[in-house]
Amino acid sequence: MRILLICSAYNGLTQRVHDELLLLNHNVSIEFALSNNHMKEAVELFHPELIICPFLKEKIPNQIWQNYKCIIIHPGIIGDRGPSSLDWAIHENQQEWGVTALEAVEEMDAGDIWANFNFPMRDTFKASIYRKEITKAAIKSLKKVLDNVQKSDFKPQKLDYEKEDVKGELKPLMQQQHRTINWQKDLTKTIIQKINAADSFPGLLDSMFDEEFYLYGAHKEDQLRDETPGKIIARRHGAICRATIDGAVWISHLKAKNKNSFKLPSATLLKDKLKGILENRIPLVLEENRETFKEIYYKEKDEVGYLHFNFHNGAMSIEQCVRLKYAYEMIRDSKDIQVLVLMGGDDFFSNGIHLNIMEDSKKSDEDGWSNIHAMNDIVREIIHTPDLITVASLSANAGAGGAIMALACDYVVARHGVILNPHYKTLGLHGSEYWTYLLPKRVGKEKAYELTETCLPIGAIRAQEMGLIDIVFNEEDHIYQEELENFCHYHANKDDYYDFLDKKQEQRQKDENIKPLESYRNEELEHMYKSFYEKDSLFNKLRCEFVYKIKAKETPKRLAIHRKK
Ligand code: COA
Repeated sequence: MRILLICSAYNGLTQRVHDELLLLNHNVSIEFALSNNHMKEAVELFHPELIICPFLKEKIPNQIWQNYKCIIIHPGIIGDRGPSSLDWAIHENQQEWGVTALEAVEEMDAGDIWANFNFPMRDTFKASIYRKEITKAAIKSLKKVLDNVQKSDFKPQKLDYEKEDVKGELKPLMQQQHRTINWQKDLTKTIIQKINAADSFPGLLDSMFDEEFYLYGAHKEDQLRDETPGKIIARRHGAICRATIDGAVWISHLKAKNKNSFKLPSATLLKDKLKGILENRIPLVLEENRETFKEIYYKEKDEVGYLHFNFHNGAMSIEQCVRLKYAYEMIRDSKDIQVLVLMGGDDFFSNGIHLNIMEDSKKSDEDGWSNIHAMNDIVREIIHTPDLITVASLSANAGAGGAIMALACDYVVARHGVILNPHYKTLGLHGSEYWTYLLPKRVGKEKAYELTETCLPIGAIRAQEMGLIDIVFNEEDHIYQEELENFCHYHANKDDYYDFLDKKQEQRQKDENIKPLESYRNEELEHMYKSFYEKDSLFNKLRCEFVYKIKAKETPKRLAIHRKK
């Protein structure tokens, strides 16, 4: 089918929908809802048989939905309407939520229902529910819609609030006044829930040191305490810990209220105001059940080590790269394990260097340059792991240098539905992380060129087909974990374990003789130098737009195939 995706942004969900439709061999094009004219023009150019809106904040012009079948993917249960669906669901502690696919009509979210899937809610922040549960239910709904479109006798369900199974309602936009924290009265659980309902957008507005900030990244703290609720009592790796009436909560990121600002680690933004607040250190291997803010942690099971690096948004600053490298080296060189698994974070495996911190720096050229080196140093250490089998576990999406880092491992496994963006050009970069060595090694030179030039996302299944990754495991969390553990256990105990390591060393030596690893790095960095050090480089411009979230003026041609001449 010719399917047009109309969306407010090419976000993770839209990328996943795009990938699923390509897997099903549909002819797909994309248009950003920049104006009614843009949308109308796209329809005229593409003549779609079906229009799907996976993430749309704008209204579809009447002329379009009156003439084309137009399905909206709404992140809410049947009957739910309005722009703050998930915010209200978290705020009101709903135990079950869902996704509903409905036909576009005059009134927003009030059209006939084509599909619906519900799921149990998880105790976490809004963007995480969106990336996991909503995305999974949206794909199921999408497939149901595609089935239903083929059936000549299918009749969508009318929205009827009299029906017992219609539990949703029309809700207003959630405002800051609905979200406010009362530090004198709210329990830790309530505070975390309020922050979660606004995370990652728009953030919960609160004040500290007579200034207003949006709060993000809330984590419960189980040991630190103080009698003054709201008071900052500790800091750790950029996060701050604030006392509550029944405990304490970590807040990892802040954004100043003024317009010209972006999200940064809390301690970076508060800088001089934190004098006297001590860094609270934790060991790499934490007690199993401690609740606190932790980025890097390690677990072991049956001769397999699992190294987690749960960095906010998958972005890795110089300091985070250095910590990760030390942790990696320490485990590699001292633990009695056969297999070491890079687990990445809960929401992203990794998205490469930290663009926000770089943007904030007064010497962004040098700091950005050091960040690239710090990323490269980790990748080099992973490549130089002769005595262990290494596995990258892509249980969440990865982009740019973060996706390439995974390829440094001996095996790359991914959760079904994970999206990879192994390219740099959308940010105006040539790229580093030894990608010129690692990517062609897996997919061949031609495919490596295609991936890095076309800059399109690749889902796990298609990634496996082209050899970018080795194996795809189940999308369900607990099954994925079980399959991963079985895979690692199998390789740790295989008869030819040491033969595998011998061959790996031989291959590395052969590769090194053909071209030293450091030559790949130096060549990549030669291309990258100007991007970092020339003030008006494309990268500096695009990074600024990315960090300040400046809206695109046109749909990129790589997505809007109807606009390609
Ligand atoms: N540095 C800082 N923040 C980053 C980041 C990075 N490298 N990569 C992603 N983020 C942030 C986004 O700003 C966004 O923030 P918010 O939700 O808190 O507002 C969040 O992570 C999610 O990213 P988003 O772009 O919405 O997710 P996506 O699934 O639509 O797209 C990517 C994923 C990887 C394609 C996209 O984020 C991207 O291009 N990132 C930049 C990658 C890069 O160029 N890295 C540097 C070179 S190594």
